[in-house]
Amino acid sequence: MDTETAHAHARRIIEEAANLTGDETVALIESHVAHNYGLLSRDPVVKAEGAWLTCASGKKIFDGVAAYSAANLGHGHPLIRETLKAFLGSHAPTVLGRFLADPYLGLFARKITQMTGFESFLPANGGVEGPEAAIKLARRWAHQVKGVKGTPTILFADQCFHGRTLTVTQMFVEEEKAARDGFGPWPAGFKRIPYNDLAAVEAAVDDNTAAIMVEPIQGEGGINIPDEGYLRALIELGKRHNFLVIFDEVQTGWARTGEMFCWQHEGPEARPDILCVGKSVSGGFAPVAGILASKKLMELFGPGSHGSTFGGCPISSCIGYAALTAIEEEKLVKQAQEKGEWLFEKLQELAERAPRIKEVRGKGMMFGIELTPDGPDGHHFTELLLEKGAIIKDTHHWVLRFTPPIVASKKDLELVLGILEEVFVGQPAEA
Ligand SMILES: Cc1ncc(COP(=O)(O)O)c(C=O)c1O
Repeated sequence: MDTETAHAHARRIIEEAANLTGDETVALIESHVAHNYGLLSRDPVVKAEGAWLTCASGKKIFDGVAAYSAANLGHGHPLIRETLKAFLGSHAPTVLGRFLADPYLGLFARKITQMTGFESFLPANGGVEGPEAAIKLARRWAHQVKGVKGTPTILFADQCFHGRTLTVTQMFVEEEKAARDGFGPWPAGFKRIPYNDLAAVEAAVDDNTAAIMVEPIQGEGGINIPDEGYLRALIELGKRHNFLVIFDEVQTGWARTGEMFCWQHEGPEARPDILCVGKSVSGGFAPVAGILASKKLMELFGPGSHGSTFGGCPISSCIGYAALTAIEEEKLVKQAQEKGEWLFEKLQELAERAPRIKEVRGKGMMFGIELTPDGPDGHHFTELLLEKGAIIKDTHHWVLRFTPPIVASKKDLELVLGILEEVFVGQPAEA
């Protein structure tokens, strides 16, 4: 196709999207897209910059969940946007197939291993591919290194969330019917244990245990923060009983909790055998994820053992490299520590004045606002907050997740605190 025709099509596609009304957009989605998500708002988002979303109606909304922590750097970070523009202008391949060498993958992998202190990176696409790859690696290790003869077992924690592929879908609790029902039978070799309970780990471990997989703070489960020392103790138990420890930091990684990774709050002894990363590793520009481990462990993945067409492709690697550079340049960890501390204090003050707030808990810029169960639930408050201009999303009925973009300014955060004040203190909650 010649460049002129391509330009004409490009203009038409962008204009077509810009000219759709809100109702038309929703109608298209409802008629042609699987109904696996419900819409919180029927006012489509047409622009996103930093912490703010602009809707078709012109309404501006603060993204208080940072696209579920995929936008720790805010939306459309300029460093990544400019790199991506230059990448596209350079005519570098966007995708190749991993049997061909690509400079961007090499640079991205060097950066991510330097920043995390692991020797080897396995690139993937969506976040759930991290836990999936980690489970495969742990099983192979159990068969080929530990010498497990029967079915290797992976321990997982109650109330966890690792994504929605078939392997990890069984990890939802029984009550999560929409997520579980009708998808069985489940793959064998998984055992549920209570979260934050070391005795339960010891009791569950046997000769077939391959690994334990946990989130250092449970996000979707309701911002559940384990006792100080839990993560370190898991590593120690793993060494003592010869099993691997997998930390899923798809949600808690990349400065969200006030360290680059949440395990680092417990010092170097808490380093896991396998670390799952995703979301903000691309600054929210593309599905980029993966796992990190030692060279020795990762070598169990030889050619032909695992992979995907787009995992580690040039455009994803370029975006990942740019996003990691932005995370460093923005001093994102420091920002999360400073703003997180200030915000936590403000939220706790607010909680004292708000009869429906039972507790505020959090680390860095990851907060859970737990409600008392004696009135309308979290979804009701999510809708009220949205009406006033902030997305702060309910999970498990009684907890509101507040994980704003780490780059959000104090002024913006004050504005959101004002909205929370209005909803929880300024007016009585009504059913
Ligand atoms: C801890 C954790 N692991 C895995 C995932 C799955 O990531 P994705 O939705 O990108 O597949 C999520 C998503 O929220 C998550 O929070």
